[in-house]
Amino acid sequence: MPSSMIRIEGLTKHYGPTQAVKGLSFEVPRGQVVGFLGPNGAGKSTTMRILAGSLNPTGGKAFVGDIDVVADPVGARKLIGYLPESNPLYDEMMVVDYLRFVADVRDVPKDLRAQRIKNAVERCGLSGVISKDINQLSRGYRQRVGLAAAILHEPDLLILDEPTAGLDPNQIVEIRNLIKELGKEKTVILSTHILSEVQTTCSRVLIINEGRLVADDTPERLTAASTEGGAKVHVVVGHRHGQALDATAIRNAFAAMAGVSGVESVEGDGPNTLGFELRHGADDVRRVLFETVVKHDLVLLELRRTQVSLEDTFRKLTDTRRAA
Ligand SMILES: Nc1ncnc2c1ncn2[C@@H]1O[C@H](COP(=O)(O)OP(=O)(O)OP(=O)(O)O)[C@@H](O)[C@H]1O
Ligand SMILES: [Mg+2]
Repeated sequence: MPSSMIRIEGLTKHYGPTQAVKGLSFEVPRGQVVGFLGPNGAGKSTTMRILAGSLNPTGGKAFVGDIDVVADPVGARKLIGYLPESNPLYDEMMVVDYLRFVADVRDVPKDLRAQRIKNAVERCGLSGVISKDINQLSRGYRQRVGLAAAILHEPDLLILDEPTAGLDPNQIVEIRNLIKELGKEKTVILSTHILSEVQTTCSRVLIINEGRLVADDTPERLTAASTEGGAKVHVVVGHRHGQALDATAIRNAFAAMAGVSGVESVEGDGPNTLGFELRHGADDVRRVLFETVVKHDLVLLELRRTQVSLEDTFRKLTDTRRAA
């Protein structure tokens, strides 16, 4: 059994003058559920289409299992269930007819077809709509049909391009749970713009920007304090006896605290209060902060520690204007 489910090596793709993918390399071991993130136009769909064998790369290699997707697209597709970005379905067909059609195209053996369709319909919660025309379905149900079609031939790898795009919050939760279930037995790579989705669904995050990989880590580590040079503490103080506050003196006192790497003034909480945001490294500075406040005859009106979010990390890594 090959060790990795996906192996991409120096992948490039040009669309005429546009270079959509610029030397991308990564590997995904079996069983992982990977979130594939990046801003619009980053090259996510292009990469996924190449991986699914529906688009040829300009250069580089892509393997699924140990199969080269360019040299043997038919062999590779047997291992892959692909939900394309726009999830094109045959609108005029009944759901069950569409699934029969896909089973046919996917060469599901005739004697297994009925059982496979039944399984997919059950797993994807389609039992109530199998006799409806696809064009009568809500977007959430269309996505379910797309997922059912993708798993009919029991692939090892699911490639899902924005599976929750355009769904309402309830449908998002339902599709996400379905993907989680599928992820228990399959390798999954899914693209999304909903960063919280990655935190709840994926064990690994790949972020691409302008066709290049800019991050490859667990969601936890990408949101850990160390990524942004520390977590932040938001603090609001007042004077213990209601006297005027010396902003500069207080700021300097906070800045002098062990472990604090920066202090910014932020809005207070009404007259005679001052707000600050303290950046710090791995150590928790709240205790020494409290002592500093007492020492300076201040009262602590608010103390809140904020974690670096995946949004912060994503923006930092993909904000080209800021990097330029
Ligand atoms: N068929 C095509 N012809 C020409 N250029 C294309 C084509 N498909 C994509 N591109 C270009 O390639 C780049 C990458 O597009 P791609 O669709 O892979 O991005 P994406 O990361 O999926 O973006 P989104 O988040 O908007 O779905 C973009 O600059 C896009 O305009
Ligand atoms: Mg896309």
